[in-house]
Amino acid sequence: MISIALVVAAITTAIAYFVDWLPEQASEERQGIDLVFWVTVAICIFFFAVVAAVSIYSGVKFRVRPDDESDGPPIHGHTGLEIMWTAIPTLCVTVIAVLSAVVLAQNDSPKGEPLRVEVLAQQYAWQFTYPDQGGIKATNLYVPIDRSTKLVLRARDVLHSFWVPEFGQKQDAVPGIVTTLVITPTKTGEYRVICTELCGLGHALMRTRAIVLSQADFDAWAREQPQGGGSAGGGGGGGEIDAKGIFTANCAACHTLSKAGTSGQVGPTLDELSLAPPAVEQQIRRGGGGMPPFGNQLSDDEIEALVQYLTGSNE
Ligand code: CUA
Repeated sequence: MISIALVVAAITTAIAYFVDWLPEQASEERQGIDLVFWVTVAICIFFFAVVAAVSIYSGVKFRVRPDDESDGPPIHGHTGLEIMWTAIPTLCVTVIAVLSAVVLAQNDSPKGEPLRVEVLAQQYAWQFTYPDQGGIKATNLYVPIDRSTKLVLRARDVLHSFWVPEFGQKQDAVPGIVTTLVITPTKTGEYRVICTELCGLGHALMRTRAIVLSQADFDAWAREQPQGGGSAGGGGGGGEIDAKGIFTANCAACHTLSKAGTSGQVGPTLDELSLAPPAVEQQIRRGGGGMPPFGNQLSDDEIEALVQYLTGSNE
């Protein structure tokens, strides 16, 4: 039985270890997450091997012989066995729980003063705001390498969950509460941001990119961005509203529109929009048909610009 267990354990360990299941490591937090993962996998392999060995051994050794009509012996409990199969799993889940708690607590503490990024999740797009960089807004997450970034997550409508596989840890965005996630990237490059909480029709497409830059490149990127929060300062009649920018920031994840270069597949294509401007405005303000409302999110001027952009009523 022991030799069967060893064979099963060797096969499953080889599959777990030699197949390259996991994405590359690109953050400090990922190491702790991987440790918890591998400890859990090791425990699972051990018990799978034991159970498989007992099953295979019993199947071979105790199977019914031809013409054997006799019944097996009656068995009524075994206190020692019951104590064992309660105590061992309790011990295992306790080990996993304590290890996870330690890793999560460690991952929660940033190294030095973190960069703050506010993350807004909504059906079906991500928006990132940089309060300490003049309120820059972006649809991709730009972060510097070797410095902790503290994501402050909010959800506008339903549950979403922020995940970059290469960074390891996930964090839910929950309507009504604020959650945080610390990431400390260790590799420059582009990674996928994935929503990992089923949030509606467009859930599978609620993706964007996390772009890790050197500190100098990050500073240069931040300088090039139009400063956000400007509707208070630079608003009024003078400021030209960038309708295409509003469209790509808010609508691109779901809608295809050739002139904006977007290819979202969740909602209808807007290339041949046949609605009159008032109907388009109504749809943007109130939502409906699976689309969330934007009335509280965009200013009246922005909605007007967007309606004109979509209906071509000023061209
Ligand atoms: Cu948002 Cu799934």
